[in-house]
Amino acid sequence: MIQSHIAQLLNDQVNAEFYASNVYLQLSAWSECQGLEGAAKFFREHSMEERIHMDKIFDYMAECSVPITIEQIPKAPATFGNLMEAIQAAYDHELKVTAMIKNIAKQSFEAEDYTTFNFIEWFIAEQHEEEVLFDKIIDKAKVLGFKGEPGQSLYIMDNYLANVQH
Ligand SMILES: [Fe+2]
Repeated sequence: MIQSHIAQLLNDQVNAEFYASNVYLQLSAWSECQGLEGAAKFFREHSMEERIHMDKIFDYMAECSVPITIEQIPKAPATFGNLMEAIQAAYDHELKVTAMIKNIAKQSFEAEDYTTFNFIEWFIAEQHEEEVLFDKIIDKAKVLGFKGEPGQSLYIMDNYLANVQH
């Protein structure tokens, strides 16, 4: 039996993952309009990953007979000054998601809900990987001296994003 405050946190996370999926989908749409095919592919694939995260929590809640409410999803940011701003926005969002996941881990542990605690551990590892990925991308931009301006570095960054493992 999942306690109600834990059920609420899981429901919030379902909706947060949905929003994250839309954040990346919007980033992909923005990239398409900028002629950044690599970034568009990267963000599009990431959008699908967030959707899978949502499914994972959805399945867990369903298994535990916890009611699920799909809330109204806020509009994702749609305009960015340049690719680095877009990447930074994605990174900042990941940090918020990490904080939410860690809170579920903390609350479930404190509530002695070890089943949820065990379930959410996968997401802790996943968020670590997300942060490592964005650190790697930002480091690559630093190596290139890329701050978002059009030109050769932008072309290289776009190609890098098309092929980066995530
Ligand atoms: Fe996620």
